[in-house]
Amino acid sequence: MKKFNHVIVRRPCRAMVEGITSGLYPGKPDYERALEEHDDYISALSRCGVDITILPKDERYPDSCFVEDPALITRACAIITNPGAESRNGEKYEIIDAIRQFFPEDKIEYIKAPGTLEGGDVMMCGDHFFVGRSARTNEEGIRQLTEILAKYGMTCSEVPLEEVLHLKTGVNYLEDNNMLVCGEFVDKPDFQSYNRVVIPEEEAYAANCIWVNDTVIVPEGYPTVLKAVQDLGYKTLVVDTSEYRKLDGGLSCLSLRF
Ligand code: GLY
Repeated sequence: MKKFNHVIVRRPCRAMVEGITSGLYPGKPDYERALEEHDDYISALSRCGVDITILPKDERYPDSCFVEDPALITRACAIITNPGAESRNGEKYEIIDAIRQFFPEDKIEYIKAPGTLEGGDVMMCGDHFFVGRSARTNEEGIRQLTEILAKYGMTCSEVPLEEVLHLKTGVNYLEDNNMLVCGEFVDKPDFQSYNRVVIPEEEAYAANCIWVNDTVIVPEGYPTVLKAVQDLGYKTLVVDTSEYRKLDGGLSCLSLRF
């Protein structure tokens, strides 16, 4: 099934080594290695039948390569979010021009203060969106998102987070009713109607895989997850994201897919 035609990414900037991190995966990112991994990521995406818009690096925002957070793109509209991390909030202004290449002004919506929302907290499952209430996404942001989606005939439900940074840190939809779930999301009633593939704790990082037109991109170094995804019948591509992992960033964070 071809669902996505476009991808937007942003090149990592040198300042990424000062990006926000929980320290869960210790070490400073190696910038040169991060660039190589970004090249590999783009090359994997280009094998999935999408055109790729590559935005230039932006040294003002260390985390700006995680382009999934300042915008959310749906089948009917684009939503500029209002990132809850202060050092990332200005990224919302820098993504708008790229979004305007694909959406007319009347199909671009905005999450406004005091609402906060980051795209990493939003998981699209068809026309329903699960949204994590996290340290970065608040009740008012979710209320605004629900209102925007309703305007376009789409729905939204809140999933409170207890442990992880973003919703998609621990749960990701692979289409065809298949969902990767890990940690706090394994027993959540919200996801019981899906075919849930439980990811073992030691491979928790790889719960963040991305489905792109029937290919699933899996982070390098997670054999159990790779096999589980292949057993579901997907073609797979493996990309090393070691330097982004040090900043709690995964495969989904590095692109907007639509
Ligand atoms: N380092 C990615 C983030 O915290 O948003």
